[in-house]
Amino acid sequence: MIDRATRDKLIVALDLPTYDEARALVDRLGDTVSFYKIGLELLFADGLSLAQELKREGKRVFLDLKFLDIGNTVEHAVAAAAKLGVDFITVHGHDTKTMTAAVRGRGASNLKLLAVTVLTNLDQSDLDEQGIAATPGGLVVGRARMAENAGFDGVIASGQEAAAVRAETGPKFLIVTPGIRLPGAETGDQSRITTPEEALRFGANHLVVGRPINAARDPKAAAETFLAHIAGA
Ligand code: C5P
Repeated sequence: MIDRATRDKLIVALDLPTYDEARALVDRLGDTVSFYKIGLELLFADGLSLAQELKREGKRVFLDLKFLDIGNTVEHAVAAAAKLGVDFITVHGHDTKTMTAAVRGRGASNLKLLAVTVLTNLDQSDLDEQGIAATPGGLVVGRARMAENAGFDGVIASGQEAAAVRAETGPKFLIVTPGIRLPGAETGDQSRITTPEEALRFGANHLVVGRPINAARDPKAAAETFLAHIAGA
């Protein structure tokens, strides 16, 4: 029997082009999955309606919208998202001004703020191009520390960065990790992947899984396999 806390560690990414496909996947997964991530693609296909439906159905919802704008705009966008009653939202963790604006916008709501530190598709040459004199790993840890100081609840980090972030932040700081694959599975376009067991050992609190579940022939069986790995970790 898998308890709710274990089930909540698995966040299934609803990376699908239409509301109907996302709704059908949620219905197929039923009680197996308790936490969903809605990103920019589904946002433009009634993703916010689905987010509210999922909340009414007792699910947890992570809106992966990666806000970055002037403080006034970020504050009011976060306040509007908080009114939807969703659980997690992402904001770029580039600077303290943006993040403290997000903290003001969240107000007294239960919305948890997660910082995107360095996008996992960027490498050293992209940082050099921006005139940033840091390694991607060093920048991730520095931005995680800045996010914690600004009052953020956690960060998005690959499993390979999770251990360094965990070492530099408090025990309650959330680490949410995408790029999760079972041993020997298709990696798709992900390069910095980890297994569920590795990510949890490195300090991740939640694992984001997309294609290994949303593109599986039997998504429910795939989700159950991931949950068994999480429960056994
Ligand atoms: O299909 P896959 O399991 O690779 O999907 C991973 C999900 O996590 C996608 O929704 C992707 O946008 C998201 N993500 C990521 N890397 C990040 C941040 C988010 O893969 N750094």
